[in-house]
Amino acid sequence: MTDEIIYLDHAAATPLRREVLETLREAQETLFGNASSIHTAGQQAKRMLEDSREQVAASIGADPVEIVFTSGGTESDNLALRGTARALRRKGDHIITSSIEHHAVLNCCKSLESEGFRLSYIPVDPSGVLNVQSLLRELRPETILISVMLANNETGTLQPVSEIGKIARERGIVIHTDAVQAVGKIPVDVNDLGVDLLSLSAHKVYGPKGVGALYIRKGTPIEPILFGGHHERGMRPGTENVPGIAAFAAALRLATEELEETRCRLRKLRDRLWTGISERIDLVRRNGSPERTLPNILNVSFDGIEGESLLLNLDLLGIAVSTGSACTSGSTEPSHVLLAMGIPPRTAEGGIRFSLGRDNTESQIDKVLEVLPEVVNRLRQVSGVKL
Ligand SMILES: Cc1ncc(COP(=O)(O)O)c(C=O)c1O
Repeated sequence: MTDEIIYLDHAAATPLRREVLETLREAQETLFGNASSIHTAGQQAKRMLEDSREQVAASIGADPVEIVFTSGGTESDNLALRGTARALRRKGDHIITSSIEHHAVLNCCKSLESEGFRLSYIPVDPSGVLNVQSLLRELRPETILISVMLANNETGTLQPVSEIGKIARERGIVIHTDAVQAVGKIPVDVNDLGVDLLSLSAHKVYGPKGVGALYIRKGTPIEPILFGGHHERGMRPGTENVPGIAAFAAALRLATEELEETRCRLRKLRDRLWTGISERIDLVRRNGSPERTLPNILNVSFDGIEGESLLLNLDLLGIAVSTGSACTSGSTEPSHVLLAMGIPPRTAEGGIRFSLGRDNTESQIDKVLEVLPEVVNRLRQVSGVKL
């Protein structure tokens, strides 16, 4: 291997792209005023804030007044769920979500459950797609909110959000989608999806960490979950991180402009990786739908080895990948997403996520394919598991 790091963990975080870094640096230096101040420095920051809001809105087919800036995907998810639950508590206490959501949604749902809300977690089929019939069966007069992610962060599998949006709209139920992984990878339009709330995060689209947004369709019943000043039309108090927001908007604009080209390129690289793996290594399984999927994510289980060991061995060779498992107090739990798809725990433990990005090349993929069979064989021998 060369000293070059082959970074295949873009679903966890993307590097800041050069143009975005430039925007961030310039805004840090020049736009230090508080966007709520009425003097010139404040108004310059305010102008950048509103220009950024327009760009973010345009990238998802929204109106600028429907964008609220937050500290990232986690806060956007919490504002969507808790804010709606708080606003509609008197109308009903039932919320529907899926069993494969990111923990930003799942753990928020758990906390709402502990406060007396009733939750339904809809299962997925073996390819990781939510079962719409099960969702229909769970609907009740007290259902106030449905939250289903647009693309799963572990498998890339796309969920039937526009179909669910229609179901929700017909019944007057608020619908939220966590589009953190989908935005910038596939076309996302809030009206095509028919959603009321949509979460975004900057660091998945080559923007900075700690910045995100929640789209809130005009007229959606929602209350703030943080209290303070009147920023973001009272929906999210706190002095806005104008440089971070400007960089987020620039990143999203670039991702949107280049979407088709990047999508095609990543899909080819992802397919090259999967074909190479399946030709060179026995007893592998691709997790998630190969058709209904993001262009950049490939989740593979390697029988007989733990994903964590494979990750660490690849890291020693300069290849960064991830597992879906949550490492809690020294013990690794198999991914809740793979388990929800009916994958046996032992196979789920061998799950590795390769998530590609704009800087990856064919030769990097070929280098991975060169070393991976050797590493997998060695780990299988060490594990001594009979296959
Ligand atoms: C689907 C999904 N939702 C939410 C988040 C959380 O976003 P953030 O890291 O900006 O809080 C992530 C991050 O991995 C994600 O993949």
